[in-house]
Amino acid sequence: MTQTLTLRRPDDWHLHLRDGDMLRAVLPETTRHFARAIIMPNLVPPVVTAADARAYRDRIMAAVPNSDSFKPLMTLYLTEDTDPEDMAAAHAEGLITAVKLYPAGATTNSASGVSNFDNVAKVLEKMAEIGLPLCTHGEVTDPDVDIFDREAVFIDRVLDPIRRKHPELRVVMEHITTANAVEYVQANDKNLGATITTHHLVINRNHILAGGIKPHYYCLPVAKREKHRLALRAAATSGDARFFLGTDSAPHTDENKLLPCGCAGCFTAPNTMSILAQVFEDENALDKLEAFTSLNGPAFYRLPVNEETLTLTRNEATFPPHIQTPDGPVTVFDPQMTLHWTA
Ligand code: NCD
Ligand code: ZN
Repeated sequence: MTQTLTLRRPDDWHLHLRDGDMLRAVLPETTRHFARAIIMPNLVPPVVTAADARAYRDRIMAAVPNSDSFKPLMTLYLTEDTDPEDMAAAHAEGLITAVKLYPAGATTNSASGVSNFDNVAKVLEKMAEIGLPLCTHGEVTDPDVDIFDREAVFIDRVLDPIRRKHPELRVVMEHITTANAVEYVQANDKNLGATITTHHLVINRNHILAGGIKPHYYCLPVAKREKHRLALRAAATSGDARFFLGTDSAPHTDENKLLPCGCAGCFTAPNTMSILAQVFEDENALDKLEAFTSLNGPAFYRLPVNEETLTLTRNEATFPPHIQTPDGPVTVFDPQMTLHWTA
């Protein structure tokens, strides 16, 4: 039996690092394993201009542990006031790697997101022209749409029309949670990729709701029924280059999770690689792990793969239930299974 598994160093194509004390507490959990990450811009206030992205990048770089080398791939938060020229200049100088679309009100800190998509048409045109990818939080916010249907409805009502209007726009469907999204990606060859989180490969909605409510499994998009989890596992382990890892590791203090109206987000940075190795082993697809974590993402983003490697060892991995931060403890995602790979 394989005792070690060496991969090209993975990248995380969707990560929340926050800022200040929280940033300094959570960043080492990512840089220990990952060479690069797409950094979500949903700070308060959000990262909307090139100047914001530059300043945030510098704060991240100042927090990288000396032992690690890490490159944050910055994003801008798309608003109805985004200036196409500022954005294009940031892209030209290599400062930003993508632009993030949050429908207004869809998730944590998304109040400045887009309500009227006609108001961002010029920005999307520019992005298509310069090859700058759009990362989408794919959920509609219409209160009449059931929360479990919001991703599927987004594909029909928002995503597909945008892609028809801007066929050259390169789009990443972020943290997909449904068989509908998997099928949409599979049916579209060009300019479309999707990230899948670690936790959506592990939990379905029963884990959140059956036998008592589990706030630490609540994230957005919310986990769906089992058939969707199985579709995600099949896509992730297939080797299909359109699917790649975006952990959506989203730390919140326990205090903010355990409220009558608790925050959405699963914190998976510490144990993501151990969990993924276990999932891929359970699916008899360990040979596809490197494609998912280290090859498909760079191919979509037209970046070189990492030269460095990460070696996993076959022995039982254990994790602390939470990490300490100056703001309070942050609970680490519990996959509720024995993990046989240590990263
Ligand atoms: C994210 C966060 O906490 O910033 N939460 C989450 O549940 N994934 C926001 C997001 O990506 O939706
Ligand atoms: Zn996210």
